[in-house]
Amino acid sequence: MMIDWNPATREFHLRNGLASYVVRVLENGWLGHVYFGPSLAEARSYGHLAPGEFYGFSNRLGQPVPLEYPSGGGGDYRIPGLAIELADGSGVLDLRYTSHRVIKGKSATPGLPSTYVEVGGEAETLEVVLADEIAAIQVRLLYTIYRDRPVVVRGARISNSGASSAIVRCAMSASLDLPDSDWELITLSGEWARERHVERLRLRPGAQSVSSARGASGHQHNPFVALVRPSTTEASGEAIGLSLVYSGNFIAEAEVEPFGTARLRAGINPNGFSWVLEPGGEFATPEAILAYSSGGLGELSDAYHRLFRERLARGSWRDRARPIVINNWEATYFDFDEARLLAIATAAREMGIELFVLDDGWFGQRNDSSTSLGDWQVNLSKLPGGLDSLARKVEALGMRFGIWIEPEMVSRSSNLFAEHPEWTIGIPSRPRTEGRNQYVLDMSRPEVVDHLFEVLSAVLGSAPISYVKWDMNRTITEPYSPTLPAWRQGEFLHRYILGVYTLYDRLIQAFPGILFESCAGGGGRFDPGMLAFAPQAWASDDTDAVERLKIQWGSSLAYPLSSIAAHVSAVPNHQVGRVTPLATRAAVAFFGVFGYELDPTALSDGERAQIADQVAFYKKWRELLQRGRFLRLRSPFEGDRDEVAWMTVADDGRSAIVAHYRILSRPNPGPQRLRLRGLNAEASYRVSIWPASAEADGVAASREALGGDELMSAGLVVESDRKSATQGDFRARLYVLEAAEGASSPGVES
Ligand code: GLA
Repeated sequence: MMIDWNPATREFHLRNGLASYVVRVLENGWLGHVYFGPSLAEARSYGHLAPGEFYGFSNRLGQPVPLEYPSGGGGDYRIPGLAIELADGSGVLDLRYTSHRVIKGKSATPGLPSTYVEVGGEAETLEVVLADEIAAIQVRLLYTIYRDRPVVVRGARISNSGASSAIVRCAMSASLDLPDSDWELITLSGEWARERHVERLRLRPGAQSVSSARGASGHQHNPFVALVRPSTTEASGEAIGLSLVYSGNFIAEAEVEPFGTARLRAGINPNGFSWVLEPGGEFATPEAILAYSSGGLGELSDAYHRLFRERLARGSWRDRARPIVINNWEATYFDFDEARLLAIATAAREMGIELFVLDDGWFGQRNDSSTSLGDWQVNLSKLPGGLDSLARKVEALGMRFGIWIEPEMVSRSSNLFAEHPEWTIGIPSRPRTEGRNQYVLDMSRPEVVDHLFEVLSAVLGSAPISYVKWDMNRTITEPYSPTLPAWRQGEFLHRYILGVYTLYDRLIQAFPGILFESCAGGGGRFDPGMLAFAPQAWASDDTDAVERLKIQWGSSLAYPLSSIAAHVSAVPNHQVGRVTPLATRAAVAFFGVFGYELDPTALSDGERAQIADQVAFYKKWRELLQRGRFLRLRSPFEGDRDEVAWMTVADDGRSAIVAHYRILSRPNPGPQRLRLRGLNAEASYRVSIWPASAEADGVAASREALGGDELMSAGLVVESDRKSATQGDFRARLYVLEAAEGASSPGVES
């Protein structure tokens, strides 16, 4: 049993040896939070850790009581988990424990992506029912604990058993009260082409949050936050993660109140949201995933990586090696014909690349971004034989074929807009804000989802298509749907994303063999909700190797390598104009789902040979580079920001690849060592260097096998002599570690 109920103390204890989560029914019937942290012994009471009854403002000291799903108006002035406007206009709830049950396994969240179980006994779920009799509102709080993971998945279902409607104004997926506020808040923030940069700031009194109001999770903030102790590093210290399985408007917020306790919450952004709960109706929040680590941020990330890879991603591609792609976008933009595409595919195939992706511009009259979104019929003047002819020719080369789509959009200049202007999001009496010459379709309308399913099914069924890149290039303005009554307009953006999920789900069911990659102007919707449908995401439109170090580092805080699509592109880089060595571009893109985004017909013979070598390297180490345990070693956000290092290590500890990047060359460098992690301390490792030419630069592979203990305690020597200074800027080296025969099981050190 992972979930215990002690009727005497009215305590729930969720535990699995990795973490404990303790909740108790307070004397007044409210559900109080007791503890989340390292695993505690079973069969003991911990209720004394949390003050007993909640007296709110009338309490002599007004001290805060830790609560599981707080609502305002009754003396708790902190940020609420739940806010409901009742029929009389009041908003005070008094939710008291009524019952609970423990369920084997875990159920899905209706209409929303969710984590799941596959094997009997791998998880248990606690459902606690709270009710306010006067308001006739019930809340079912759900907590799932997995046997082998330091995570608790939370969610809430809110229902109305009264005779009048009520309006949900705020319904968080999780709210967590912590006994102190000696934490730093980590967020992943940025903009287009610089997504998911790590921000780390000490918690201060008051509320601090990240959120989106764009209709998508957004480039600006990610629905993942972590609280870490000021002393927490990658390798040690406490960390609590909170990740929301949702792709729409979200908020993740921490509040420090005057007694120094902290509340952390995440859920649908209440700003602009409301949901009408009809009598008998129920509202389901998205899931939130809490994770705990006492072994640093690295261990926290590992928990998310495994959960997302193994129990959030679904479908036939979940566990399969992902193909190396070549995408024609930066090679041709809109300017191509079949011959040009086949020339690219042929050159790519000669270098060993496995899948050709035809990006934007293959449909309607789309020769620039001004037209044709919504008209998902192939442009026969560019591709006279249609997609089928092109796909078959690509397959004849020994490659697979994929296409780009942007289903949620419509161009003003398109047949779809002419036929169905009413399907476009906007307020009828107002002009619509323009964005990339396109409007957003009203995905809250079932007929729009049905239409898209039909036309896209026709496209995907028309040719041997193995891969789809699903883009979303503008966010939502003037959110409004004339199909909803005035008092339900606050539901619109949630209904929009539910429509997106429905379309994804239907297409995945209809085409189970297709690998989907999500995209939103690069990484503008890179979130766990999307990963439940598309197991990989285009991390950013920025393919510059130096910029990608930051983007991929930040992404890796929550997301596994198998979800981070990363391509080598041409130089000067199209986003920042920087010129970096081809080997460095590959050495960065290797740490993710690898591919190319350039014109291979424009390369020199030498560059083609280098790419063939890169492709061979990635194929050899693909399992490790897509599914290994990823450990961050030197941060692009700390120190002089001139040096970055990370590694991936096999679960059995027998092989690892360490990457060391020097951004700007420095004269007369001192000897540098990198302390590795995750190896087997008893094993001996042979070290080889990639690219092989690095050997000639004076970076020597070790002749002797090196001990795992030495590599973790003393470190790996990475810049051994002055020669490395003369190599110039943007240098990368990979160190491949292979355990010599006889090495045993994985190490314990993290
Ligand atoms: C977005 C994507 C790019 C490319 C273009 C096509 O910007 O992020 O990768 O597909 O759209 O218009």
